[in-house]
Amino acid sequence: MAGKLKIRVDQDKCQGHARCKSLAPELFDLDEFGNAHEVGDGSVPAGLEDKAWLAQTNCPEIAIEVTEE
Ligand code: F3S
Repeated sequence: MAGKLKIRVDQDKCQGHARCKSLAPELFDLDEFGNAHEVGDGSVPAGLEDKAWLAQTNCPEIAIEVTEE
């Protein structure tokens, strides 16, 4: 069985495109500058793995890292 996924937004790369938030609102929050942060510690709840990958591939700045624990 695959391990749990974890997401991380690289704050140096994020430019606030917010595609992550619209594609996976359960996994990303935007701060007052419009930059994204992972919800909680970035652990992806079961069933939301596809959204994590989708958000990663749709970020124009390649700011989202998805890792398997
Ligand atoms: Fe930032 Fe990419 Fe989301 S630029 S707001 S992490 S789509």
